[in-house]
Amino acid sequence: MKHILLSLLLVTSITMIAEPQLGKASIEDIVNAMTIEEKVELIVGSAGSADNQNATIGGSAKLIPGAAGSTNSISRFGIPEIVLADGPAGLRIDATREGSNSTYYCTHFPIETLLASSWDIQLVESVGKAMGNEVKEYGVDVLLAPATNIHRNPLNGRNFEYYSEDPLLSGKICAAMIRGVQSNGVGTSLKHFAFNNQESNRTGNDARMSERTAREIYLKPFEIAVKESQPWTIMTSYNKLNGTYTSERADLLKTVLRDEWGFKGLVMTDWYGGRHPELQMNAGNDLLMPGTVKQKDVILNAIRKGTISLRAIDENVTRILGLIVRTPRFLNYKYSDAPDLQSHAAVTRSSATEGMILLKNDNNSLPLDRKLKKVAVFGRTSYDFMAGGTGSGDVNHKYVVSLTEGLANAGFVVDKKLEKEYLKYLSIEKPKLPKFDWWHPRVLVQEKTVSTEEIAKLAKTQDVAIITIGRTSGEFIDRSIEGDFNLSEREINMIKDVSNIFHSKGKKVVVILNISGVIETQSWKDLPDAILLAWMPGQEGGNSVADILIGKENPSGKLPMTFPCSYNDIPSSADFPDCKDITEEMILNSLNLREMEVTETNIKNFDYTEYSEGIMVGYRYYGTNKVKVSYPFGFGLSYTRFDISDYAVNVVDGKINISLKVRNAGEIAGKEVVQVYVTAPGKTMVKPIKELKSFAKTNLLQPGQAQTINMTINVNELATYDEQRISWVVEAGNYQINLGTSSETICATKSITIANEIIAEKTHGLLK
Ligand code: BGC
Repeated sequence: MKHILLSLLLVTSITMIAEPQLGKASIEDIVNAMTIEEKVELIVGSAGSADNQNATIGGSAKLIPGAAGSTNSISRFGIPEIVLADGPAGLRIDATREGSNSTYYCTHFPIETLLASSWDIQLVESVGKAMGNEVKEYGVDVLLAPATNIHRNPLNGRNFEYYSEDPLLSGKICAAMIRGVQSNGVGTSLKHFAFNNQESNRTGNDARMSERTAREIYLKPFEIAVKESQPWTIMTSYNKLNGTYTSERADLLKTVLRDEWGFKGLVMTDWYGGRHPELQMNAGNDLLMPGTVKQKDVILNAIRKGTISLRAIDENVTRILGLIVRTPRFLNYKYSDAPDLQSHAAVTRSSATEGMILLKNDNNSLPLDRKLKKVAVFGRTSYDFMAGGTGSGDVNHKYVVSLTEGLANAGFVVDKKLEKEYLKYLSIEKPKLPKFDWWHPRVLVQEKTVSTEEIAKLAKTQDVAIITIGRTSGEFIDRSIEGDFNLSEREINMIKDVSNIFHSKGKKVVVILNISGVIETQSWKDLPDAILLAWMPGQEGGNSVADILIGKENPSGKLPMTFPCSYNDIPSSADFPDCKDITEEMILNSLNLREMEVTETNIKNFDYTEYSEGIMVGYRYYGTNKVKVSYPFGFGLSYTRFDISDYAVNVVDGKINISLKVRNAGEIAGKEVVQVYVTAPGKTMVKPIKELKSFAKTNLLQPGQAQTINMTINVNELATYDEQRISWVVEAGNYQINLGTSSETICATKSITIANEIIAEKTHGLLK
């Protein structure tokens, strides 16, 4: 009996040991040993939120509360679950946990748009490094960021999560962010791949455009990011492209992404994105997030029927295991739950100042004279400064430094009576705001009215007036034109009254823009003395703004998009929804239709959106069509002046080498961004008058100090996408290489000649 027992034990333990273990056996051996059910268990993920009815069992809710999801574990092969969490302005997990007294706050870094406004690749990489450290130290494996969709129209509710209207700037900054985060040994998920440029009906909207537009404008930032930084994962988008869900397009996920660009990582869906698991798997998704039981059943049936091949499933599983073995969780990293939040607060404070843009500074009103101590602070968001936008791009931060706190920290004395009135107003009005739902835009409380008598009293006693104009936006819903893109009557009156009355006393007025996206500025910008675009600058916002106001930091940000004169000037204005037109019924209907698998779409700018402007997005359009703008792409002032000289351009071995000298010709240390815009011959194809092809930011230059800047553009990067020849083609002829400090301030131009047409790359001619 004893013998029998012993041999049974032996057999059992031999069988147990015989299971190949992840990390010890090859991934191939593990894939071969897995059952089909186990494979499906892995390719359909798990929800992070415990209350999700559709979610499969398990998941990271218990592991890291507030994380967006996880993969499933399979213990017999030693496969752990790994944790995925948002987002682009910092890690989004719950700050508190049931049964624990500890807190898990994350740093709210500046929004992506602000980081792009720095035009500083190294800076963004360092922000990514700090962000990724929090990912690692809080036990998360993949950050669901960065996002690099194009700012096609200012009303997109998620523009704050994206970088720019220009593909090159978006791509370069995005690649830097990925490198920074991943330098910690954690992953990123580059999203939303692709054409995700509006929130209205985002899970059903069909983005309709030409292949040229798709490749030159909307895919370009992804291409640059993939080639330059190989994100560990990519997240497909919710929307369709030319009639087919992006997550169901093999041409996008396999041919373009893998074959043409050489992407090596894993592809996952956006949360509950797409419609047919079978089509999604066949198109090249590896992981469906966060996963439903129904998806598992559909995939299992499809495998049994042979409509999804086992080979394809094995490839998916191989990629998922390839991701898992790189993660801190698999490598048994003992995370601390205690990242250095203090040093990261310093990172967010200083990086925010690098991306703030000085739009106006008449008579050197800024930096403020240190003798001006007493400040009258107007505008609701001065007292409720916003660190970032809403939705999955939000961060559970510990605090936000309001503007008034920042000013006080910098030694200003904020008028107490006015402050008290605003705080009282906010405490009464904020609780009245509607609760969140899907079909109403995020609103702030209405601007408070301050009477002209009160402003007059303040103008007598205070040294200077500061006004903040605030705008928020977020996931699920776009912005509206009236009262959001355009300022409300109350806001306009506030700027007018405060400016007139303070000016009558010879006192200055500064406007701070604490906004998530572009607003109208043309009609009121003449009124104040200075305008500082602070964007949503992260949790140290008030301190960052004050650092600029007192001249501790010299603003060096430049616009990553155009500020048009009016909404109707925007090339996509007729082809973008105004959220005032979107009703609850439309949204419910679209969700029902999707559920019922009705594919017919008919409501313009909701069910489908024509990208009629083609490649003429942002400054490409305004410049080519000579449309006057309020502030051009690339624009931003400084407290100092720069001389640019010694501009030289030469072409050697397929490379355009550019060099120039930037000298600080003023009295204050500062940085300048130099931008190279190319004018192509445009004889065989329509081309924008100027396209950004390179940029560089100087070091901090002391007064009188100079720096030589060298830049290189590969001749192939001048290529245009030719749909007829399904190739990237560099037209022969003369090219102007324009050196500028904005898209409209060109300080030097050189010509080069491309003697013969170059076929830079042949593609597969897809995306129809
Ligand atoms: C968003 C993604 C996000 C995901 C997980 C989706 O609704 O579109 O950007 O990463 O949720 O939170």
